[in-house]
Amino acid sequence: MTPDDTCTASDREAIDAGLALATGQDYWSTPAVEALGLRSLRFADGPHGLRLQNDENPDHLGLERSLPATCFPPAVTLSCSWDEALVEEVGAALGREAAAAGVDVILGPGLNLKRSPLCGRNFEYYSEDPLLSGTLAGAAARGIQSTGVAACLKHFAANTQEHDRHRVSAEIDMRTLREMYLRNFEIAFETSGAWSLMTSYNRINGTYTSEDSWLLGDVLREDWGFDGLVMSDWGGVYEPVAAFNAGVDVRMPGRPQDTRVREAHADGRVSDARVEQVIERMRLLAARTADKPVVPVEHEAQDALVRRAASASAVLLVNDGTLPLDLRPGLKVAVIGELARKPRYQGAGSSRVNPRRISTVLDVLSAAATQAGAEVDFAPGYTLQEDPAQPDLIAAARDVAARADVVILVLGLPEAYESEGRDRSHIDLPEQQLALIEALRDLDAPRVVAMCNGAAVTTAGWRDDVQAIVEFWLTGQAHGEAITDVLTGAVNPGGRLSETIPKKLADTPSYLDFPGDHEIARHGERTFVGYRWYDAREIEVDHPFGHGLSYTSFAYEDLTVEVMPLEDDTAFRLSVSVRNTGPRSGSEVVQLYVTTPAGFLTPERELRGWAKVDLVPGEVQRVEIVVTRRRLAHWHEAANDWVFAGGQLTLHVGASSRDIRLTSAVTVPGHPLRLVLGKYSSLGQWLDHDIMGPRLGGLIAERGGFRGRIADLMDDPAGREGVCDCPLASLSEFPGVPLVPEDLDALCEEAAALA
Ligand code: BGC
Repeated sequence: MTPDDTCTASDREAIDAGLALATGQDYWSTPAVEALGLRSLRFADGPHGLRLQNDENPDHLGLERSLPATCFPPAVTLSCSWDEALVEEVGAALGREAAAAGVDVILGPGLNLKRSPLCGRNFEYYSEDPLLSGTLAGAAARGIQSTGVAACLKHFAANTQEHDRHRVSAEIDMRTLREMYLRNFEIAFETSGAWSLMTSYNRINGTYTSEDSWLLGDVLREDWGFDGLVMSDWGGVYEPVAAFNAGVDVRMPGRPQDTRVREAHADGRVSDARVEQVIERMRLLAARTADKPVVPVEHEAQDALVRRAASASAVLLVNDGTLPLDLRPGLKVAVIGELARKPRYQGAGSSRVNPRRISTVLDVLSAAATQAGAEVDFAPGYTLQEDPAQPDLIAAARDVAARADVVILVLGLPEAYESEGRDRSHIDLPEQQLALIEALRDLDAPRVVAMCNGAAVTTAGWRDDVQAIVEFWLTGQAHGEAITDVLTGAVNPGGRLSETIPKKLADTPSYLDFPGDHEIARHGERTFVGYRWYDAREIEVDHPFGHGLSYTSFAYEDLTVEVMPLEDDTAFRLSVSVRNTGPRSGSEVVQLYVTTPAGFLTPERELRGWAKVDLVPGEVQRVEIVVTRRRLAHWHEAANDWVFAGGQLTLHVGASSRDIRLTSAVTVPGHPLRLVLGKYSSLGQWLDHDIMGPRLGGLIAERGGFRGRIADLMDDPAGREGVCDCPLASLSEFPGVPLVPEDLDALCEEAAALA
């Protein structure tokens, strides 16, 4: 299309001015365009704290230090809270800090699905399950946007590895893409109405996401109704004109001197309409972020929130009763581990925050112990380098531990192990730490492990050598306090795993296809990601999805289900009573997994809802989980649509994906599947069709029914199956089938008219 000749001079000026918006003006902002009355908009990373850089020396990989800001727990940690309200509260706190700094868009939340525990950026993502991931990311975005700052859902889509992230093509079939790698974004958008979105670096099925008009147009805009601004990831545009035309509104970082889109407009490869679209979207974003109430940041409140969020998200993986610690006069506590004094509390790369403060386990736990009259001794036990085991450090740690009544081992992954830009090669603790656990295994004093890492680490090889394990993930800046709160029982850990911890890497779903070869990552496991895979293959895991212990216990009672009529979007409402049967107050996450008959291969159980409840000892509360028909749907490749055709569902209610306490079978109505039938559709598909089935059946009956061999086969269950699998085009060639080619043409025409 050439620039429209009917444009007035002022329209042409506007379009000319608007072309400047196709790229940012620098690393972090869009250009102000006076002719359009548009101010410059400021972007900043990132999902778990504000990373505002000095404009003189910017970068996007967290190499340069940014201004001090609150460092919140990242998504890996917060997702274990399964608590939308908490995630939203953290989002709002982040938004307030951004507003106070004059930032219009926070580049987050990141919500790519965790395909493999090896992905170096898993700390920034929520879950292996699209519902949990999308719901919590939606909550984070709602929180951010409640402050007048835009959230930016990233990285759209299927950015599941760091290795070769600029070139790799994620080869994914349509159903898997829709149900897993897009569904989380769809839910996050539906539940937040996010005002912006960032494309990813990778390709999907050969096409860069930044050049994918199907992804950015048909899916995002048409199907989902997204009306916000699409920006590229930093350096994620490879062909500026193709990306602009495909739907990337703003290319980042800015290259104002690059005139390729302007030239393409001049020679007709970019339309006026597309430029106008970008102007409108930029205006909308500017308007949405115009009235940010700027309030001074209350640092103490922010820090208290970090502490609360981190401790509420901690997952008690194993406990023989050693935890919580009873800090009493005379108790000797050994704190072992370099990470106790050099904390690992956030991820590395573009989301790295320069924390306003940071506390260590050694300092905070020692202070609490001293106050209680207990004593603390410390030994590092290992270094943070990728060195082999250090015999001297281990011997010194053993001496300290041998004198103690209880040993707190602070273990985890040093920063070099996991970062944006690279993936891990294994899921074990570093060699030095494994040797340390081994060296302490014969001590009498109980050993408690506090884990600090941003992605799943297996405990399978050593979990029986210790008495308790708490997975703290990355706590954010209130590190020492959050860990001490949980270890001492000031907080009862309420976290539940948002991803499976496998026993070994070879068990993981994408083991043979991650990170792929020759820039191709085949998603051969299809929708069987995370627990869906381990359940289907009956693989024992280290700790299952949804798992998390408590310092109290819960009983589930009295499951009831109300099935709703087909006119209602809600498929059913489930209620169950939860009773705190133990000695302490605590929270339980009631999880609902559903087995849905779909007529094609689906995972055995899929998470379809959950409810979090706080209970004091002895208290009972009834919780409700409401599930819509849409949430039960699967993507049907042939129908090219979401389908929930109804049928008998099994509802599994439990405390983890492998700790099911109550089940119920219910029949739920759905919308019958209407395939577009043709000559190559099988007899079975024709007969199953609600309109064409009776029509074809009637025609065959009118003609006297099947005869001869075909009639015999239709009377025999196995034979009938074979005949029903046969396409009509082939079946009608057999003697005894009373159909002629003209019938097929007429039937196909009728079927097409119904579509
Ligand atoms: C990351 C994004 C980030 C951007 C700006 C990129 O390298 O992938 O998540 O927002 O840099 O720092």
